[in-house]
Amino acid sequence: MEQTELVKPETLDELIKTLHQIFQSDRINVEEVQNLMESYESKPHEWRKYAKFDQYRYTRNLVDEGNDKFNLMILCWGEGHGSSIHDHTNSHCFMKLLQGHLKETLFQWPDGKSQGDMVTKSQRVLQENKVAYINDSIGLHRVENVSHTECAVSLHLYSPPFETCQTFDQRTGHKNTVKMTFWSKHGERTPFVRTVFCCFLCKCVQTLDWNMETLLNLNNVEFLRQEQWKLSTQTFSQNGQEVGSL
Ligand SMILES: [Fe+2]
Repeated sequence: MEQTELVKPETLDELIKTLHQIFQSDRINVEEVQNLMESYESKPHEWRKYAKFDQYRYTRNLVDEGNDKFNLMILCWGEGHGSSIHDHTNSHCFMKLLQGHLKETLFQWPDGKSQGDMVTKSQRVLQENKVAYINDSIGLHRVENVSHTECAVSLHLYSPPFETCQTFDQRTGHKNTVKMTFWSKHGERTPFVRTVFCCFLCKCVQTLDWNMETLLNLNNVEFLRQEQWKLSTQTFSQNGQEVGSL
């Protein structure tokens, strides 16, 4: 496929500008996007404002909405954080390492007949500035920061953008549809609810933050009630501001 004459982007803003140009076309050259993203050399001061970490799980932070043609986001992986096995809803997925290392494990789609563990196709460790690519015809994957001492930051481009994907249980291949949410958008924390739990067993207190959209599904709260966590107090916060409690 024809490629536009591309200049190496010196900054994240330049990279975003060029991505907008490329995605004006309806036909996407995967290699061209991959090369462009790889040619940008990660400079932490340019993306730090989007890099927001959570203590318990990796976060998705929206950087640019790409004129509805793509979503560009920064994912922040604390030590030991990882994704579930998931598909990409018929979209292109580009993943560039901005900092640290990430392990990518590729799986075959479950065939729906055989029971038992999902089949691993390959595994690799992505290095800083490198760009990985996947779509549903290649398979499913799990991404993990296996380091116990270093966090990792990655830049993801999905085209077309999507809001739900399927996650898979590695032991059985059973799938679930999940809605994906953003921890922050354009550097601003998205509204969330903070729940405070007291453990039945040791009486320790833990907090858990829920994206507002996720909490609209009250089954989540019911699930937690059945677990070892006793819901002792529930404090509603929006943008970190306390607005009420149950
Ligand atoms: Fe993915």
